[in-house]
Parts: sequence; structure tokens; C-alpha cells
Amino acid sequence: MNIWAHRGCSQRYPENTLLSFEKAINVRGLAGIELDIQLTRDGHMVVIHDERVDRTTEGLGYVRDYTLAELKRLHIYADENPVQQIPTIEEVLDLIEPAMRSGMRLNIELKNSVYPYEGMERQIIDLIHTRGLQNQVVYSSFSALSLEKVRELDPETEIGILDTKVSDCLFKLQGGCGANVLHPYWQGIDLPPERLRGYTVRAWLSGHLYPEKPTGTKLDLSALEAKGITDLFLNEPEMYAD
Ligand code: G3P
Ligand code: CA
Repeated sequence: MNIWAHRGCSQRYPENTLLSFEKAINVRGLAGIELDIQLTRDGHMVVIHDERVDRTTEGLGYVRDYTLAELKRLHIYADENPVQQIPTIEEVLDLIEPAMRSGMRLNIELKNSVYPYEGMERQIIDLIHTRGLQNQVVYSSFSALSLEKVRELDPETEIGILDTKVSDCLFKLQGGCGANVLHPYWQGIDLPPERLRGYTVRAWLSGHLYPEKPTGTKLDLSALEAKGITDLFLNEPEMYAD
């Protein structure tokens, strides 16, 4: 089973922060890191999951209504660790690029199914190509329309279609949205393993996030593999380090 750090090491550290990504690059045997991108009012790509800043910072309102400078004034508290900020994708790449060049992969989820941030596909693909990291990246989105654009802009890249049920992922993939791998919810495996054979099936969990306390529960990876899952996005990948 390939293990990915979902929003970084997001159970023990605040999700989608430089701290959570720094911890992730130090987890032995990790296949990759997942993160979410959105656009600020002045067109910067920032790494944050929710469309609003309320849950993870002391701010209120939508990411798209803030300039980058305004977002940078918000705080993300991390217990005894230094206070974090919402990072730009460039800041995250600066941190993780050496690990990527040593084989770690990066799943960039375009968080654009609620607000279809105009031009974000081109912006992120240009940035990844400028840095020469295209072979290490997989793009994903819940928006099939967005993935169609990604495919047009980057015919070679790996693209994951996100949905709850693996059958919906597969039908959208077969419908030509440009995706070539499946990113379903881990409890949405509603097809027999034979139907999934030959596909990369990267499943995501909705598990506990910082500052909730870790549960200590460990998943039975071989049971999940038997269902056809090849990769898992986990909030606590440290539990599964080699
Ligand atoms: O990309 C997998 C997973 O991150 C999708 O759900 O809501 O955690 O972004 P979400
Ligand atoms: Ca995500």
C-alpha cells in the first residue's frame, strides 16, 4: 500500500502548513504528500482546504476575498510549535522540492468545485513545469471540467478524479474528463476488485484532524488492498512509516 500524507501530517500538526509538510517529508517510506490550492483575490495560489478561513485561522470570510498580504496576517496556532501562516504553493515547493527530487510525489488538489477559480489550472501547471517537477506531480479535483482543462494543458500528466464512490470516479474517467487514476472515498468502493484491476485507486479518509487527539487506531491495510485500493491518503501517515 502506498501511503500519502493528507494535507501533510494533519493529525498531529495543523493541516496544510509548512510545519505539517516538513513533518511529512521526514516520514520514512512515504509515497507522497497531498495538499489543496485556491486563489486569493489578487491571484496568488495558496494552500488551504476550506473556501473560508474561519475553521483554521482567527479570520472570517472567503479565501477569494482576501489579498495574499491580508491572508498572511492570519495565524494558525500549533501548540508548542511556532505559529503558522497559510502558505503559498511556492513556499511549500521551496520546502519539499528536495524530497520530490528524491522521489516523493505531490498531489495538488485544485479546490475549485465550489468556486471555479479562473485560470488556476494554467497557473499551477506553468509553475510546476517552470520548476521541472512535472514527473512528480498528480493533479486532482472534484470538478471534471477543471480536469479536462488540466489534460488540455498538460497531456502527459497524471490526473486523479475525486468523487465519493469509486464507480462514479470510473464512469467519469471513462467519460473522457482527462483523468487517468481514481481518487474515491475509502468507504466508497462499490465495485468488485476485478473491475478495478489495472487502475491506480488512491482512497482518501475523512479522519481526525489537528487539534483533535489521535485515536491510536490503525487500519488493516491488507483488507483495503484486497478491495482494490492501491494508495491511501492518511492524516497520520507516521503510524505506517517503514
Ligand atoms: O484528495 C483527497 C482528499 O483530500 C479529498 O477530500 O475534502 O480532504 O480535500 P478533502
Ligand atoms: Ca484535498
